[in-house]
Amino acid sequence: MKRTLTLLLLLTVGIAAALFIAFHNSTPPEALSYDDDQEGLKDQIVFKFSHVVAENTPKGLAANKFAELVYEKSNGDIKIEVFPNGSLYSDIEEINALKEGQVHFIAPSTSKLGMLSPKWGVLDLPFAFPDHKAIQAGLNGKIGDQLLQSLEKDGLKGLAHWTNGFKQITSNKRPVYSPDDLKGQSLRIMQSKVIQAQYDLLDADAHQDSFNSTYQLLEAGQVDGEENTISNIYSKKFYNVQKHLTISNHGYLGYAVMMDQQVWKRQSEKTQQILLEAMEETTAWNERHSIKLNEEQLELIKQHSSIEIHELTETQKQEWINKLDPVYDDLAPYIGKELVEDIKKLRKQYEADGT
Ligand code: LMR
Repeated sequence: MKRTLTLLLLLTVGIAAALFIAFHNSTPPEALSYDDDQEGLKDQIVFKFSHVVAENTPKGLAANKFAELVYEKSNGDIKIEVFPNGSLYSDIEEINALKEGQVHFIAPSTSKLGMLSPKWGVLDLPFAFPDHKAIQAGLNGKIGDQLLQSLEKDGLKGLAHWTNGFKQITSNKRPVYSPDDLKGQSLRIMQSKVIQAQYDLLDADAHQDSFNSTYQLLEAGQVDGEENTISNIYSKKFYNVQKHLTISNHGYLGYAVMMDQQVWKRQSEKTQQILLEAMEETTAWNERHSIKLNEEQLELIKQHSSIEIHELTETQKQEWINKLDPVYDDLAPYIGKELVEDIKKLRKQYEADGT
C-alpha cells in the first residue's frame, strides 16, 4: 500500500513538473497576436534568429547586438535567441525555415536571394561599388529600398540591409593577379546566377555550394579556391587551407534581414516599434563596425598564417573591370534594365568622387 502511494505521489509530481515546463516556458511568437486581454501578461516573447556565419563577423555581431538592444528596450519582455554557424539551418534551408515559422529572423546574403527575385543580382555585379560610401548610398537609396520591397510578394518583411564588405579571392593552385589566372581553376561560389556569369567569363569552374561546406571543399581539394570577405575567410579559417589571397574588392557581400510577413503582422504595435528601433540602431552600428572588423581580421591573417597576400594594383584592377564589364549588359534582361542602369550611374558617380 505504502509503495503504491509513493508511486502515485511520484507520478503526480512528474506530471506537474512536465506541465510546468510545457506552459511556463516562453510563448512562441505565433501565439502573440495583439489582443487587449494580453495587456499585462508577463510571458516573454521569444524569437529565433538563425544565420550561417561565425559570431565574430559583421553579421554575427550585428545579430547579437540586435538581440541585446531588443532585450534592453523591452525590459526583458522580448528575447531574441541567436543561432550562428548554420547550427539550425544552412543557407539553402533558411528561407523555407522562416516561411514555415521554424525561425523568425534570418539575414541571408543578398546573393542567395535570386531564387526570390532576380533583382537582387544587381548587388552582385562586378566592381559595382567603388568604395564603402557607394555601398551605403546604394543600400540606403532607391536601389536598396526597391530590393527590400520586392520581398513582399513572397510574404516576407524586409527589415534592413546589413553589410559585410568586399569579397576577395583565395586559391590553392596559383596566385591570382590577372583575370587569366583563374582560367581552369575551380572555385566555390554562392548560389547566384550573376556571380556564376562572372566566373564563366573567366573560364573558371564555379561550384555553387553552401557556405558551411566551403571549408571541407577547400581542405579536401575538391575546389581550388573561393571568394569571400576577409571576415568570413578569417572566422572560418579558410586561410589555413589556402596558399594565396588576392585583395581584389571585386564584389559586394551583404545581407537582407527579414521576417515572415504574417509573424510580423501578429505582433503588437509596441513589439513592432521595439523591433524597428533596435533594427535601425543595429544597422547604423553594423555600418560603422563592418569595415573595421574586416581590416582588423586581415591583420590577424597576416600575423597568424603564411598565406601569400597580393593586393591588386590600380592597373590590374582596371584589367579585371574591363574583363568583367560585359556581365552588366549580358545580365540586364535577367536583373532588370532599369536597376542595372541605376547601379551603373551610382558607380560612375562614386568613381568620379574618388578621383
Ligand atoms: C557565403 O555563402 O559565402 C556567405 O554568404 C556567407 C555569409 O552569410 O556571409
